[in-house]
Amino acid sequence: MTDSENRSDDNRGEAPALPAFDLKNQPSVPFDGRFLSPGNLAESPNPRMSLLDAVHTRRTSRAYADRPVDRATLEWLVGNAMHAPTACNEQQWKIIQIDDADVIEDLYERGSAAFLQGVRQCVLVCYNRDSDNRAWADGVQSGAAFVTLFQLLAHSIGIGSCWICHLPNKSELRRLFDIHRAYEPVALVSYGYYRNKVKTHPRKHEPGRVIMESRFRAEGLVFSGTRRVLWRTIGRYLYYKIPPFLRRRLRPYTTPFEKKFYYETFD
Ligand SMILES: Cc1cc2nc3c(=O)[nH]c(=O)nc-3n(C[C@H](O)[C@H](O)[C@H](O)COP(=O)(O)O)c2cc1C
Repeated sequence: MTDSENRSDDNRGEAPALPAFDLKNQPSVPFDGRFLSPGNLAESPNPRMSLLDAVHTRRTSRAYADRPVDRATLEWLVGNAMHAPTACNEQQWKIIQIDDADVIEDLYERGSAAFLQGVRQCVLVCYNRDSDNRAWADGVQSGAAFVTLFQLLAHSIGIGSCWICHLPNKSELRRLFDIHRAYEPVALVSYGYYRNKVKTHPRKHEPGRVIMESRFRAEGLVFSGTRRVLWRTIGRYLYYKIPPFLRRRLRPYTTPFEKKFYYETFD
């Protein structure tokens, strides 16, 4: 049998119908049409919830209950999130647990995301950067895969989280946390038991418009924000060049300029 005959054999038969997802009728998290109330998961963790329920009911949370997440729970999260794929299966994460209020306040004052002021617990996800494929930033991608799983797993047991890249320069973080030169900080993740409702975000694009056949098709793309992004990039670069002692003083004045995700609008 030729290769092409083999291939057509594999393709014979209908693909099984996949379930449509309906937020209103999923059993995992109460939903009032606009907000999800995942607090029930903090009371009754449900890590066996369906994958679709987890994907659709997880939303970023930036405010958390006072009850701290204990070490055993963090180890459960990290242990399961370590099933994320990694480049060459290297599995080279290092996770810095941060629950010292002074350290979190210091991060805020140095110009990290303003909501950190109300946060008690974070992890700084680092990944080994000794790669021969740095052009593809495969260490960063491996770290990002971990964060995605970490957030989903956390959600399933009632822990909300936020992926944070609004941070001082990596060199500054390296000094602050004594990060070994072979490792790269990938992202900070704040977490804590859900306190509030979380807002649903409609998807901005239809999958049919996201998938392109065989090559990139640029027709119809709109780049309205390019100039604004350029100015923000320059502003950001200069801001984080300011020595930390001065940045600390400026912090109350810089918060209004911070990009807020809280009130996202949709096209
Ligand atoms: C790479 C990355 C960086 C992010 N950085 C921040 C951040 O610095 N501050 C913040 O409030 N949210 C941050 N977020 C969270 C996004 O704002 C959030 O995922 C987005 O608004 C969509 O909301 P959802 O997670 O509820 O779907 C980041 C997310 C990603 C993936």
